Amino acid sequence: PEAATPTPVATVSQYACQRQTTTKNNNKVFTDAFEVLAESCEFNEMEGPCLAFRRAASVLKSLPWAVQCLRATEDLPCLGEHSKAVMEEILQYGRSFEVEKILSDERYQTLKLFTSVFGVGPKTGEKWYRRGLRSFSDILAEPSIHLNRMQQSGFLHYGDISRAVSKAEARALGNIIDEAVHVITPDAILALTGGFRRGKEFGHDVDFIVTTPELGKEGHLLASLIDQLEQQGILLFCEHQASTFDMSKLPSHRFEAMDHFAKCFLILRLEGSQVVGGLHNAEEGGRSWRAVRVDIVSPPIDRYAFTLLGWTGSRQFERDLRRFARTERRMLLDNHALFDKTKKEFLAATTEKDIFAHLGLEYIEPWQRNA
Ligand code: CTP
Ligand code: MN
Ligand code: MN
Ligand code: MN
Repeated sequence: PEAATPTPVATVSQYACQRQTTTKNNNKVFTDAFEVLAESCEFNEMEGPCLAFRRAASVLKSLPWAVQCLRATEDLPCLGEHSKAVMEEILQYGRSFEVEKILSDERYQTLKLFTSVFGVGPKTGEKWYRRGLRSFSDILAEPSIHLNRMQQSGFLHYGDISRAVSKAEARALGNIIDEAVHVITPDAILALTGGFRRGKEFGHDVDFIVTTPELGKEGHLLASLIDQLEQQGILLFCEHQASTFDMSKLPSHRFEAMDHFAKCFLILRLEGSQVVGGLHNAEEGGRSWRAVRVDIVSPPIDRYAFTLLGWTGSRQFERDLRRFARTERRMLLDNHALFDKTKKEFLAATTEKDIFAHLGLEYIEPWQRNA
């Protein structure tokens, strides 16, 4: 009677939006390696292979078990020849020689360093690399290089903003912004989004959505909020982009296209955070504050659910939601709207659950979207 019944193995979907991915990653040795490979492809403008490594990593992140032999991956989607070869190396030797070669490559190291500065993307990093620059001091000593405002702040606060933000610090910032936004409108709506909404312990920034329950009243909310933070003396940097939202436009086909809502990219001064030493303030011996990166987006209330879903991430989860909508449902999804191409109509939503339902997807909780 104890005949070993083979455990039925549920098939893993190729779409991250049909998988549950918590912050517990059982396959970090592999996914860290894939992240390096993906990044290296990104620096070399190899978009196809880059996406392939990111998809492979995402599938492994969703597994409730650790891969211990290549045979266990047979039924998994998105694992190509290259990914499997890397995994085999890691299984056999505990490391990938291809990854180690990249990690010791001067170009990779330099682009990684340059793009770690707020406001510096792969294009700028590449430009500086081609000019023979290899370090921050090379850049700062080069008189012909013009740094924009964002990059200047990026260098100024480099030590602080390259340190991870803790959940406690995210909560403290949430309280500050909550208070500030309610000074402006007592009925303001504030929500934490991004990685912290997904339950992450640490982040590179803190992301928020602010709006008002009355459609149209959100117009000046973000600008007023920025003024308020400025008056409190905690605004260290602000890039404010006014809304260019056009409600008649179809959702974008391109994933990397930014949304059109009013938004701002900030650096805020957070008091009560123990900052000891630090590269640029050794002489201070320690201070009672740190700089933190904060993003805030302000959509009209009728687009709130789309914005919340779009800004909660992860990036891979969002990519696959859109790909699923387009490929499996003939629908277009972005941070603004969902459009059904068959019925030729927009599908309204007041909650994230409405959007999953329109897409015929099982609801995935925010903490299960760490794809
Ligand atoms: N996002 C977006 N438009 C922007 C900026 C961000 O749609 N202009 C979305 C991204 O797609 C992502 C989410 O907002 O899904 C959060 O972005 P980000 O803060 O970069 O990443 P997190 O997942 O929060 O990770 P981290 O903890 O590193 O901040
Ligand atoms: Mn974030
Ligand atoms: Mn970011
Ligand atoms: Mn962000």
